[in-house]
Amino acid sequence: MKIEVMAGSMETLKCDVLVLFAGERTTLSDSLSGVAMQANTLTGGWIEDAYASGEFTGKVGEISVLHRPAGFAARRLALIGTGKPAAYTSASARKAAASAMRHCKTQATSIVYAFDDATHASAVTEGAITGSWEQDHHKSVHRRENKIEFVGILGDATAVERGRIIAESQNFSRDMINEPGNILPPRELVRRGREMAVACGLECEVLDQDRMKQLGMGSLLGVAIGSAEPPFLMIIRYRPATAASTDHLALIGKGVTFDTGGISIKPADGMEKMKNDMAGGGAMLGAMRAISQLKPGIAVTAYIPTVENMPGSRAQRPGDIVTSMAGKTIEVLNTDAEGRLILVDAITYAKQQGCTHIIDAATLTGAIGVALGYGHAGAFTNNPALLARVMAAADKAGEKLWHMPVEEEHREQLKSAYADIGNIGGRAGGACTAAAFLKEWAEETPWVHLDIAFTAYLDDVKPFSAKGATGFGVRTFVNLALDWV
Ligand code: BES
Ligand code: MN
Ligand code: ZN
Repeated sequence: MKIEVMAGSMETLKCDVLVLFAGERTTLSDSLSGVAMQANTLTGGWIEDAYASGEFTGKVGEISVLHRPAGFAARRLALIGTGKPAAYTSASARKAAASAMRHCKTQATSIVYAFDDATHASAVTEGAITGSWEQDHHKSVHRRENKIEFVGILGDATAVERGRIIAESQNFSRDMINEPGNILPPRELVRRGREMAVACGLECEVLDQDRMKQLGMGSLLGVAIGSAEPPFLMIIRYRPATAASTDHLALIGKGVTFDTGGISIKPADGMEKMKNDMAGGGAMLGAMRAISQLKPGIAVTAYIPTVENMPGSRAQRPGDIVTSMAGKTIEVLNTDAEGRLILVDAITYAKQQGCTHIIDAATLTGAIGVALGYGHAGAFTNNPALLARVMAAADKAGEKLWHMPVEEEHREQLKSAYADIGNIGGRAGGACTAAAFLKEWAEETPWVHLDIAFTAYLDDVKPFSAKGATGFGVRTFVNLALDWV
């Protein structure tokens, strides 16, 4: 799919589909704005009639198509609903662009987007590219094959290029996250991560089980022991040519390639979704891919602890006590609370390597879904200033975060009779106690934890997205690094 910046008047643009955006109108006499108004005039009132007839009301996900528009080089015009004008943001433009792409991709080879706000060029590009994503390479017949070869964007070249890099990186993450456990065990995650790093000119280092034993990463290794698949800690480094800051950002992503729960095994119903349990790690890989091309002025290192959580005769048992790299002992009260166990050794390692700010992303708890539903990821921190930066980056990215508490009360729920800390805290505030566990290792280092358990994948297809991995976090982390200084 070729992405190109275009210019010129809309009648002259040669393509299969010319996409226009239009929002909800309160009265029929509301004036249309910009390009939609122009298109309405040039077509002798098509858009006015679409509204008047009630066929099109401008709601998100709505679409109206005009074939063979007289006087246009385009074969058809597609009007895409963007919702309430007062709520219109770059996020609306991104979703509308994605919906248009999903609608057209099986029946058109070229699509051009015309829109009013030039500052939305990046978001529209992102929507077009993420909307084209589908994982059907395991099917022998590709029913939703993307036939689009050409995407034209009427907008600023720098913004379009930034959007292209970010969205292609997000799709790279989604490809990995969506892979099943048999096809992507830890060694394959590491292989694909390394392949990406080499292609992008990033430094890549992979710690194996022996090295992690030497380093004393007993918490991470305890999770891995039940699987025939060996664990790894993957490290990918980006260093700016000229640093604009002495800060060093760590991006830590949970990389559980499949989570059965271990001996505290999960129920069968829905367990297949646990192939997504490396979504945090997958997001960090996509973010590094984009960062290597967009070159922010700050050092960024990704740490991805990757394991498979399996039951078996060698698996860790409830009640086992392990020693983390930081020396703190943990009573493993539930082997299904494994994400936090692998993350804390990665946090300690990142701190030891000189990282000054830590962001982690993890499909950590079902409890975050109970608290927030599917729209928002939970954001926890020991440093409000860092959280404010992450929130700003997420806002720009159209990825919704909600500030959640992590305080002394949550730490108290983690008390263990036999070790320094237990790995679960009971039913109350499950996402918060998970965060409190991580916080114990972050200590004084500024840290933000994103619980993406319910935002990392979609259970159902949406007008703007295929079912499956979303690549949540990629856009936020790239923005965070780019806007750091
Ligand atoms: N990977 C899961 C969390 C999860 C649940 C992700 C649902 C996506 C959807 C995590 O490892 C887990 O099993 N967490 C437990 C923690 C509990 C044992 C304290 C959970 O949420 O049930
Ligand atoms: Mn688990
Ligand atoms: Zn898990």
